[in-house]
Amino acid sequence: MEQYVIKGGNPLVGEVEISGAKNAALAILAAAIMTDETVLIDNLPDVNDINVMLEAISGIGATVQRLDRHRVKINGGTITDFNIEYDYIKKIRASYYLLGALLGKYSKAEVALPGGCNIGSRPIDQHLKGFRALGADVDIEHGKIVAESEHMRGTHLYFDVVSVGATINVMMAAAMADGLTIMENVAKEPHVVDVANFLNSMGANIRGAGTDVIKIRGVHSLHKSEYSIIPDQIEAGTFMFAAAATKGDVTVLNVIPKHLDATISKLKDIGCEIEEFDDAVRVVAKGRLRSTQVKTLPYPGYPTDMQPQIGVVLALANGTSTITESIFENRFKYLDELARMGAVIKVEGNSATIEGVEKFSGTRISAPDLRAGAALCIAGLATDGVTIVDDIKYIQRGYERFEEKLQSIGGIIEKVASEKEIQKFVLKVS
Ligand code: UD1
Repeated sequence: MEQYVIKGGNPLVGEVEISGAKNAALAILAAAIMTDETVLIDNLPDVNDINVMLEAISGIGATVQRLDRHRVKINGGTITDFNIEYDYIKKIRASYYLLGALLGKYSKAEVALPGGCNIGSRPIDQHLKGFRALGADVDIEHGKIVAESEHMRGTHLYFDVVSVGATINVMMAAAMADGLTIMENVAKEPHVVDVANFLNSMGANIRGAGTDVIKIRGVHSLHKSEYSIIPDQIEAGTFMFAAAATKGDVTVLNVIPKHLDATISKLKDIGCEIEEFDDAVRVVAKGRLRSTQVKTLPYPGYPTDMQPQIGVVLALANGTSTITESIFENRFKYLDELARMGAVIKVEGNSATIEGVEKFSGTRISAPDLRAGAALCIAGLATDGVTIVDDIKYIQRGYERFEEKLQSIGGIIEKVASEKEIQKFVLKVS
């Protein structure tokens, strides 16, 4: 089992290149199988979740050719199987995007039903509602979603909750259905727009992505495309909060600043200086930051995936902050770990009250999930002593070369695999 060992206390300073958006890439890889021609995808993040998705795609017979760390060619013309096994779903929930992609292209698909996960129960009723509205028979049999249709046809659909996953999944299924589909109350996240742009680059006819209403005129077939994935706004935000927590000066490169509006606004609220460029954002934090109130909301609101990162910063800020988590019910687990480092926090329902402390003290903590894991590393970087972070497999799912990027801006962090290596690190830094 690998761990991160961190010696914090020094400001992070410098520039860091942001990778392609993992959440956009997962959906785009699934959508790539919808044509029989070859698709080239660029700016793929080199993270474990992407590797699992590529395995799932080659598992059903598609041809997957990894050109290098960030580029892959996919040909869906060789698909022989419409069944996605539980093994994949267990590792990454997003392999359920193959349901929408296969249903759209072949009018049938079987995908193991995803369970809950560390951040909440995560129902998929809105996905199924959408597939049914498009004319698919959808049953749950032996732990699987079995979807089939004689005739996928356009529909007018209103989602009961704003869901990124359901918006993307149903959009893919509708891209090749007969006639016009109108989807209302859809998610507006940048990766929803990226997936729509990618499908359009293959010949789909999707309008309105990024607004509350998406209109899709179904097409009979899709064609080859070359496409570059948008930068990862969550990775960028993570480094921006790392700058804030360590009183540093960090510029994130290769970003779309507009996607970071909610994050930038909160960083300004708490006292950071922000400089925006065409495709970069600089965050400077001088002295102790201020408390604030945060509520997670669908885009363009403050992202739930950035909740733990701001939580860490607020736990060190001057004054009392509150965080309301309105998307996932189980996203405060990291606060127990943070309390072990000296944070003063009270959680009631979906609200956390944080009394900022002057400093944390290093200890051994566990990453409860991907974003919370990254946030706890930020806590370690803001702590004078040594912090050991267990369960970093979660972090490796979604952050490309996380420790290397932090090292490049002055973070003292190493990946280790044994107690002996931890001791060696401690001796080296003390
Ligand atoms: C995606 C992101 C995840 C992010 C989340 C919210 C990917 C791979 N993951 O997850 O990182 O935290 O968006 O921005 O892109 N819901 C239902 N029924 C459904 C679907 C969702 O009730 O059928 C609820 C969920 O329980 C949750 C809310 O809707 O409370 C939003 O979930 P959703 O936007 O679907 O999140 P994901 O697509 O799973």
